[in-house]
Parts: sequence; structure tokens; C-alpha cells
Amino acid sequence: MKISPKQLCGHRGVAADAPENTLASIRQVRLWGMEWVEIDVQLTQDGVPVVFHDDTLSRCTNGVGRLGETPYTQLMQLDAGGYFDTQYQGERVPTLAAVLAQVAADELHINIEIKTYPETDIPRLCDAVAATLSETEFPLERVLLSSFSLEALAYCQTAMPSVARAILWDVVPEDWQRYQDLATYSIHCHYRGITEVQAKAIKASGLKIKCYTPNHPEEVAHLWEWGVDMMITDAPSNYLGSEPTE
Ligand code: G3P
Ligand code: MG
Repeated sequence: MKISPKQLCGHRGVAADAPENTLASIRQVRLWGMEWVEIDVQLTQDGVPVVFHDDTLSRCTNGVGRLGETPYTQLMQLDAGGYFDTQYQGERVPTLAAVLAQVAADELHINIEIKTYPETDIPRLCDAVAATLSETEFPLERVLLSSFSLEALAYCQTAMPSVARAILWDVVPEDWQRYQDLATYSIHCHYRGITEVQAKAIKASGLKIKCYTPNHPEEVAHLWEWGVDMMITDAPSNYLGSEPTE
């Protein structure tokens, strides 16, 4: 089956090609012809929304400690690209505002994953995301808020009722319909975390399905047949088979 870039969403930018969740990684998305990018958002110690996956700094920067205990100015001293490849030395952990500016320039849709850890102040994080969307005047019809946290989704339902939402589940639960109000647009799950019966029922309910993070197309051929709409992947090259063209 020939896959179109429109059926793919770049994961953490294009995490296979450039350091995840950096502007360099996000710039790769448009080059592959994809229309969607997924990123993770968290707060610095002093409440600046930044795009970063882990709760600790060591894997993806040259710093140590917890992101949520690090002030913004201190975070900006860290290198977020050199660990991936020396050509990316000097990349910084980007603010959500900077990412939104890049995504707007590239005319992409953005899947903002509200990344929560046990210590996360969920209302504070969601309020900061809402404020950034408002201050940057990013077109809300191009935003999808997603989270594993049902509390975060419920908060967004009240704080940003007009912005589309998706529930994230590693494995879609049997009683997924109980939580349907929290998702207005789509259900996202691990590519091994859904059954054919569930996929068909979710589609029949009017919601879309996006699966993360299959990097090998042969593992998900059946999912397209079940009605899955999009794969959130690190490696579009494995699906599209060529160099970026645009
Ligand atoms: O949004 C899909 C995927 O990003 C969820 O898992 O851990 O990669 O943020 P994770
Ligand atoms: Mg994510």
C-alpha cells in the first residue's frame, strides 16, 4: 500500500532525523510533505511552557536534574542537539511560543501533547498552554490537544472548549466509550494497543484514530485496513522511501 505524507504525523518533529522536539526537528516535517507534527509540552520551574518529553534533562540535553525544577534562563544555557549529532550543537529546548511560530510559518497542524508526570501541576500547565495559544494568535483550528492525563483533558474541556482534544492510551480500554466526552477529534493509542473491533467502533462514533509510534510500515499494514487514519512516526523515510523533497 502506498502511503501519502498526509497519512503521517511527525513525532517530536521528525525524531529520527534531528534531535527530538527541537526547532530543527520540527522544520523537517514540512520537508517530508507531512501536514501534522506532534510535540510534548511541559513547564519550566518558573512557568514557561517549553517543548520537551522527559521529566529529566539528561537524555536530551547536556544538563542534569528535573525540567520542572529548572528556571527558564538556566534551561536556555543547555545544549539540546549535540547529543544527537554534532551538526545540531547549539539547538535549545524551544519554548512553545517559538514552536508555534515555526509551525505557523510552515502551515502545519500541531498535536500538542500535554505531558504530565506525577509532580505536574496540571491546571498551571494547561493555563500556560492556553495563554500561549492566545498570545501567539495561533489558528486554533490547527491545534489538537492530546494527553494521557484525563485530568488534563477535563481541564482543557473547560479552559479551551473550542480546541479539539484527543485521548492518549497505550492500550485502548474496553470501556473507552465512557471517556468519549474528553475526546472531540480523535483517539490516540500505541499501534499494538487496539483491536479491530475497537477500531471500527471508534470510527463509527465519528472519532479519528492515530497510532504512535510505528517506525516500520510492515507492522501496521493491517491498521490502515481497520480504519486507522494516521501514524505518528519518528521515521517518515521508512514509509515514503525517499529524501525530503520540498
Ligand atoms: O502523542 C503520541 C506519543 O508521543 C505518546 O507517547 O511518550 O512519545 O510522548 P510519548
Ligand atoms: Mg508525545
